[in-house]
Amino acid sequence: MSNKKEIVFATNNLHKLEEIRQIIGDKFNILSLKDINCNEDIPETADTLEGNAEIKARYIKDHYGYDCFADDTGLEVEVLGGEPGVKSARYAGNNHDSQANMELLLKNMQGKSNRKARFRTVISLIIGDELSLMDGIVEGEITLDKAGNSGFGYDPIFKPIESELTFAQMGSDEKNKISHRGRATAKLIEKLDNIK
Ligand code: IMP
Repeated sequence: MSNKKEIVFATNNLHKLEEIRQIIGDKFNILSLKDINCNEDIPETADTLEGNAEIKARYIKDHYGYDCFADDTGLEVEVLGGEPGVKSARYAGNNHDSQANMELLLKNMQGKSNRKARFRTVISLIIGDELSLMDGIVEGEITLDKAGNSGFGYDPIFKPIESELTFAQMGSDEKNKISHRGRATAKLIEKLDNIK
């Protein structure tokens, strides 16, 4: 029997799960929502990324008793007062349509010269009764047009300051090195590494 500690990653995104398992799977047995038979749609009702990340982790701790972490990400555009932010997945409506979200954002940015934006990921971690929050940020700008076919979400219209390419024009390794999620995950790993 494995004596690795068990921890739940409160996500249904298999890609994120696999990525994190590759990084910290030696030390922790990382369980998915499916592994613990959690089939509910956990309500994300907060109006901040921090709030939603915490809701998801607390839900699992309270209902299933597992130590847990959860993440929430938003694209924050300066000239739009931080929008779409916590609403990034459903900016153009409830059906999580990335093309529609990008079209709406480009439309709302028409004629704006300030195109500064950032992606921000917040991770909440609950171990025992201790809650920790960590974040990862990548600064950049919204391009005038879409470019590139890789990645997902707003990748074709986001260019980080570290590069001349949009996220959708990069390989995943290149993106992960500088991305919001990569940076937040590095903080999570450091925190988990310090757990005895
Ligand atoms: P989530 O909290 O990771 O599900 O992210 C919420 C929404 O933000 C997603 O549905 C995407 O629209 C957007 N998003 C999150 N991460 C990225 C990324 O790395 N690239 C582009 N869009 C992203």
